[in-house]
Amino acid sequence: MKGETSRLTKTTQFGIVGGGQLAQMLAFAAQDLNTSLAVAHNSASNPAAFSPAKNIYCTMDEEDKFKDFLSQCEFITFENEFVDCHRLTELLQSIDPDKRPHVFPSVAVLQKLRDKVEQKKILSFLQIPSGRWEFFDTSKHADSMSWRKNLAEVFGEQCVLKWSCFGYDGKGTFFLNSKTHQSDFESFIHEGQKKGAQIFAEEHIHFEQELAQSMARSLGNQKLFFPLVTSRQVEGICNEVKGPAGNFYISQKIIGECQNAISKIADHLNYEGLLSVEFFINKNQQLFVNEIAPRVHNTAHYSQDVCQISQFSAHLRAALENLPPAIDSVLAFPFFGMINILGPKNLEFERSHLIPHVGSQENIFVHWYGKAKIAPRRKLGHINFCAENHTAFEQQQKRATEILQKIFASLFFEAENLRKAPL
Ligand SMILES: Nc1ncnc2c1ncn2[C@@H]1O[C@H](COP(=O)(O)OP(=O)(O)OP(=O)(O)O)[C@@H](O)[C@H]1O
Ligand SMILES: [Mg+2]
Repeated sequence: MKGETSRLTKTTQFGIVGGGQLAQMLAFAAQDLNTSLAVAHNSASNPAAFSPAKNIYCTMDEEDKFKDFLSQCEFITFENEFVDCHRLTELLQSIDPDKRPHVFPSVAVLQKLRDKVEQKKILSFLQIPSGRWEFFDTSKHADSMSWRKNLAEVFGEQCVLKWSCFGYDGKGTFFLNSKTHQSDFESFIHEGQKKGAQIFAEEHIHFEQELAQSMARSLGNQKLFFPLVTSRQVEGICNEVKGPAGNFYISQKIIGECQNAISKIADHLNYEGLLSVEFFINKNQQLFVNEIAPRVHNTAHYSQDVCQISQFSAHLRAALENLPPAIDSVLAFPFFGMINILGPKNLEFERSHLIPHVGSQENIFVHWYGKAKIAPRRKLGHINFCAENHTAFEQQQKRATEILQKIFASLFFEAENLRKAPL
């Protein structure tokens, strides 16, 4: 049994690599599960520092410290797929087998899914539809200008360029059309290449709706499906989520197709932990996978307050082979939503980690990550809400938006005070 030899000697059950808000929320879930969790990250101002986790300040470059962190944990997981998988494998192999933690999802799976080109290959192997694509093959195209000409022939008036990895929140995604300045096109390519990513182009999908499905799976093939949700992104960043999608005009057929797709992907990879898949649906009700995320996901944050088990808890419980059989049936309320608290435009300052004072309202839950730096479009927190019916949902959505405005007002007020009386 995984982890059996080490169970007697380990001081910590779970270890997370990375200290952002996802690690913070995993740490709270571990506390609810009555289990210990350590986070390896690089700064005391990261969100994970304001959580019940044991903080271990180190990166993979600090070999001894990082190996120490690995050795004390029974299970290791990630808040972000952009880890150096080769280095992690080396470090794991240099640890005595009886002290080596069990890693989930496995490094091999992470290595594949961190790369969107690999994702495309998996999807085409599994015959799951996703946008047509082609990558920038420098052996075929002498320069980016010649590739651009080719793209116009393949995709027509517009397409979407992407970095194969290191993209997030719309960074790493570039909308190309005939009016795009050549210099912008080239800088996007160079920036991605400098980071070590491949560049590929994808057909522009004229979607009616974006959807997201999350599912936790254990190696023993226990599966827990979270409800399918609709999501709305602005400038590549998730702004809001509504669900279950069936209550927002998404057919049972589409819900079934999304569940089949994620299930097929997870089984194919023998995936362990929480997996999320983003989809597009067009006006002809055709479904396309946008991308696969091998981790807990922004679009499933609602689960903290709306489901009996949150996505964070489900991720950890998947490693323990301790997932309950179904979750749609255990929704606390039939309608729910989530709004991201993104840093307002024109506001940039450093503040304490304390939550702005906004009061409380029934069935509205404010989550604040405690980031030290407020910056435009930065994810600072989120607001979950739920309701009994559609009309009540719209009222809750309005109240949640008012809370968001209060938070913004409070941040502007604080920034102004700091400007007048700097510390
Ligand atoms: N092929 C496409 N056609 C139309 N819109 C697209 C396409 N690809 C991406 N988009 C839009 O850009 C957004 C961001 O793209 P994508 O999800 O690929 O990037 P990301 O930065 O990796 O996102 P995340 O933060 O979710 O990891 C999508 O949610 C969608 O709104
Ligand atoms: Mg995305």
